[in-house]
Amino acid sequence: MALEERCRIINFDDLGDERGKLVVIEGNQHIPFEIKRVFYIYDSDEEVIRGQHANRVSEFVLINVSGNSKIYIDDGKENMIVELDKPMKGIYIPQMVWKNMYDFSEDSVLLVLASTHYDRDEYIRDYDEYLKEIGKKK
Ligand code: TYD
Repeated sequence: MALEERCRIINFDDLGDERGKLVVIEGNQHIPFEIKRVFYIYDSDEEVIRGQHANRVSEFVLINVSGNSKIYIDDGKENMIVELDKPMKGIYIPQMVWKNMYDFSEDSVLLVLASTHYDRDEYIRDYDEYLKEIGKKK
């Protein structure tokens, strides 16, 4: 399946009214997994590149609940860049996709929903090793 289909953009509904906006994300309903972990990244600036890893087990949904950032994703065959720039927009990232997060605005708060509890051993932090594991390395 093409990278664009595997890493799909999810547009969440805005349940806002005159009192303000409200976005709801329920596990296994608005996103395709049960949420086991939540973390958020902020105070990273324009020069920082975060991520630079793939996960053997975890699936993620990333949302800039404030500000904006860019997500570079790569499956060893194709790559693409997605800009996260509103709280109603998320990107789903399945297992074994390489990702970099960068170009953070000053007010960027990047919320990450994950399908697993943290396990450092399921991270692949070396791109050559990543290619090897997905069978792309000659
Ligand atoms: P890291 O994976 O480098 O963050 P990013 O994906 O944004 O580049 O994580 C930074 C540190 O935080 C590292 O020491 C591992 C720790 N950490 C946890 O303990 N639990 C978590 O869920 C995450 C995402 C990181």
